[in-house]
Amino acid sequence: MTRSTELEARRQAAVARGVAGKPLYAERALNAELWDVDGTRFIDFAAGIAVTNTGHCHPKVMQAVADQAAAFTHTCFHVAPFEGYVRLCERLNAMVDTGAANKSLCLTTGVEAVENAIKIARAATGRPGVIAFGGAFHGRTAMGMALTGKVMPYKKTFGPLPSGIYHAPFPNAYLGVSTDEALRGLDTILTSDIAPDEVAAFIVEPVQGEGGFNVAPPEFLAALRARADAHGIILILDEVQGGMARTGRMLSCEHAGVKPDIVTLAKGLGGGFPISAVVGRAELIDAPHSGGLGGTYAGNPLAVAAAHAVLDVIADDDLCARAEVVGTRLRDTLTKAATKVSAIGDIRGLGAMVAFELVDDGDPARPAPDLCNRIIAEAQSRGLILLSCGTRANVVRLLPALTIEDAVLDEGAAILYAAIVAAAGSA
Ligand SMILES: Cc1ncc(COP(=O)(O)O)c(C=O)c1O
Repeated sequence: MTRSTELEARRQAAVARGVAGKPLYAERALNAELWDVDGTRFIDFAAGIAVTNTGHCHPKVMQAVADQAAAFTHTCFHVAPFEGYVRLCERLNAMVDTGAANKSLCLTTGVEAVENAIKIARAATGRPGVIAFGGAFHGRTAMGMALTGKVMPYKKTFGPLPSGIYHAPFPNAYLGVSTDEALRGLDTILTSDIAPDEVAAFIVEPVQGEGGFNVAPPEFLAALRARADAHGIILILDEVQGGMARTGRMLSCEHAGVKPDIVTLAKGLGGGFPISAVVGRAELIDAPHSGGLGGTYAGNPLAVAAAHAVLDVIADDDLCARAEVVGTRLRDTLTKAATKVSAIGDIRGLGAMVAFELVDDGDPARPAPDLCNRIIAEAQSRGLILLSCGTRANVVRLLPALTIEDAVLDEGAAILYAAIVAAAGSA
C-alpha cells in the first residue's frame, strides 16, 4: 500500500465528505513543482487555485515570514496594531486605481473580503440590493453562496440564503450571450425586480474564475461603470482569482481600463499565506462605524509579512510581463492541440489565466465534462496537476506559478499536450 492510498483511507474515515479533493498528498513543494508523500514529482499548473503566483515557498516570502515569526505572530489588530498592516494598506491603496484616494482593510480569506465589500457598500449607500452575475463564484459563506451564480456544488441544500441578491447574465461569446443581451438582462432586473436606487452594488469578476475563465468584454465592464455612476451604485470588482499579476496586469480590470469603486483581493496576495483585502475609495471604506469591520485573525502578521514580500517579488521580477510569456506558451500548446483534438471548442483567458473548453464534435451546446475529467486524470498520471472549472464542468484551467522556470514550463506544456491527445483518443 502506498502512503497516498493509506492517507486516502484515513481521510475517508476522518474528513468531512463535503471537503472535496483528489488523493494527491503533498509532502513538499518548491516554485512550480510538488512532491507527494510517495516521492512522486508533479509540475503544478494549479498553484493551490491561483494562490502561489510567486511559486511555492518563494525564498523572499519564506524569509519575510521567518523574520516576522521571530518578532511576533499574532496580536489581533484590534488589540495591538502593527506597522506592517498599516504599510500594506498604504501599498494596496497606491496599487488600485479608483480615481480617488483609497483606504483598505485586511482580512483572511477571499470570501471574507467579498462579505466586507458588501457590508461596506450597504453601509455607504444605505441600500439593501446587490446584483451579481450568472456563473460567478464569490465563496462559500452564506453571503458568498448567495452571490455565487452556480447551484451545484455551492448552494444546493444550504439555504435559505441572504436576501436582496439578484443575478444578471454574464456575457459569453462562446455560448452566444452577447454584451447587449447580458445588459438587457441587467436592465430587466432594474425594472422588474429592484429599483436602481435600492441597489447598493454590482459585484463582478472581470475574468470569471470558477465560472470558466470567461473574460468580461471591456464594453460590458464600461457599461456597468456607466450604470453604477448614473444610479449611485457601487462597482465592486472581485479580483480574488484574477488579481495580483495573474493576467499580466496587477489587476485584471486594468485590461478593460475600467475603474472600480472597491476591489477584493486574496489568493496571490499572500503567496501561500492566508490574507485578503478590501481596497476602495476612502469615503466608501470609511462608511461603516468603528468596530463594524475586522476579525480576530484579520491581517495576521505572518500573512502581512508574506504579502509585502509578494508585492516586492512581483515588482522586482516583473511578474506581470512574465505572466504574458507564460500565457503565450500555454496558448501555443493549446492551439497546437486543437488542430488534433476537435473537442477543444474554445481557448480563452488573459495572461497566465488560461483555459480551454471541451465540447463534443466542436458543438458549444454539447459540453464534454467526462473528457475534461479524463484529461485531468491523464495529466496527473503523467505528473502534471490540472484543475477544472466552468458552470458545465467542462473547462480545464491553467494557473502555473508566474515564477515557473522555462524548462519546467516547457515540460508541463509537453505533458499537457500529450495528456489532451491521449485522453481524447481514448474516448
Ligand atoms: C473570484 C473569487 N472570489 C472569491 C473567492 C473565495 O475565496 P476563498 O476561497 O479564499 O474564500 C474565490 C475563490 O476561488 C474566487 O475565485
